[in-house]
Amino acid sequence: MNMPDPSPAALRKLAPVLTKRWLSPDAWRIDVYEQLDGYMALRKALTADPDDLIALVKAAGLRGRGGAGFPAGLKWQFIPQNDGKPHYLVVNADEGEPGTCKDLPLMMADPHSLIEGIIIASYAIRANRAFIYIRGEAVHAARRLRNAVSEATSLGYLGTDILGSGFDLDVVVHSGAGAYICGEETALLESLEGRRGQPRLRPPFPATHGLYASPTVVNNVETIASVPYIVLGGAAWFRSMGTEKSPGPKIYSVSGRVHRPGQYECSLGVTLGELIELAGGMAEGHQLKFWTPGGSSTPMLTAEHIHVPLDFEGMASVGTMLGTTAVQVFSDADDVVYATYRWIKFYHHESCGKCTPCREGNYWMVRILRRILSGAGRPEDLDLLLDTCGNLLGRSFCALGDGATSPVTSSIKYFRQDYLDYIEGRREPIFQDAAASGSSSEATDAEAELAGAR
Ligand SMILES: Cc1cc2nc3c(=O)[nH]c(=O)nc-3n(C[C@H](O)[C@H](O)[C@H](O)COP(=O)(O)O)c2cc1C
Ligand code: SF4
Repeated sequence: MNMPDPSPAALRKLAPVLTKRWLSPDAWRIDVYEQLDGYMALRKALTADPDDLIALVKAAGLRGRGGAGFPAGLKWQFIPQNDGKPHYLVVNADEGEPGTCKDLPLMMADPHSLIEGIIIASYAIRANRAFIYIRGEAVHAARRLRNAVSEATSLGYLGTDILGSGFDLDVVVHSGAGAYICGEETALLESLEGRRGQPRLRPPFPATHGLYASPTVVNNVETIASVPYIVLGGAAWFRSMGTEKSPGPKIYSVSGRVHRPGQYECSLGVTLGELIELAGGMAEGHQLKFWTPGGSSTPMLTAEHIHVPLDFEGMASVGTMLGTTAVQVFSDADDVVYATYRWIKFYHHESCGKCTPCREGNYWMVRILRRILSGAGRPEDLDLLLDTCGNLLGRSFCALGDGATSPVTSSIKYFRQDYLDYIEGRREPIFQDAAASGSSSEATDAEAELAGAR
């Protein structure tokens, strides 16, 4: 099959920094990692003043890679000093946002870059214990991380008096139980403390009252793994990639209707058009219809947005968010109403139930969408869906509830006609069962989907 070559402009956006070792055989082994410049940044960092490291990360402009884009150096600076309390670093490796698949390959291919980043960040915030909270299903990655921790400990990169610096650090790899809400940082802390994973009221914030009510930094895997490169390359080098307000490289997880789905590490600000070029173009016979810039919690966009920079500001300018840069590409062969239904089923399933708008709102949105897909939708159903979203957005206890409104509001905004085609009988219903009467159960959902899904 002939695939078009990416244009020079698209190729220039490639920026293999965090992914540069991924193709080196056995780069996950500590001896290979050391041969490939591994632990050099740590040696440099341990000779620096911790405050200077925080200033360096601030100057580099590193923004959180877990979705919200909060400046990492600023977050570290919030940790109170000389407070007599233990400090903790917690790495968020839950990676539950639909479409997101960058942290797991990073931890599998290059776990020591994360460990090295953890040691430097812990030294900067004066933490002597760090945790990696990894999603429960990722048994293979947890095993790899535990192996990396024991390799690093045996060579003196972890434990007491690291490389003779007087700094001590232990790293614990903790497996969750596979709940999306445990990626929300305060639910994660609850879970880590052994309680049910539900978000905490803020304030107080984790910076002062985090794990075990002590000052805690929670950062995403990709955020922390960026730190060694900043220490070695410097702030100006990091800022030479990306844009002024969104500097650095970013791993974009491109999935769906493209020739070569995968991880593409590019300067922040690459466009969807360029990513599709890098991914070999759209899959044969498919035309771009809709896409998510950063997982299903970020409002979807359409073909008219392929030239908008995929950075924090570019995405905000078109009413969406950069999120986790999980770029899911859908074509004219994909049903946007059905995709929305599947996403809302996910949010309904993953809602922790703590607050009413999210718990009830998602329950009802599943049923309304199901009614539409069953051919029994009512003309007022679109307003009902939007009204339900209005009761979730800004009224839920945590951002899961807000995020659940994104697929619904954005799909109605751009593809109202697709909904009307079901409601007005121009489109064959997907479900043949009695969902419209409200009598459907989860079991019949599964059967109907097998029979009717396109
Ligand atoms: C429902 C929900 C799930 C989340 N899941 C993750 C996750 O899997 N990984 C992650 O890093 N951040 C996740 N976040 C964001 C975290 O709460 C937090 O902002 C992030 O870990 C901070 O790290 P960063 O500043 O390095 O991005 C989630 C947020 C919400 C509301
Ligand atoms: S918004 Fe949803 S997930 Fe968040 S606390 Fe409320 S019920 Fe739980």
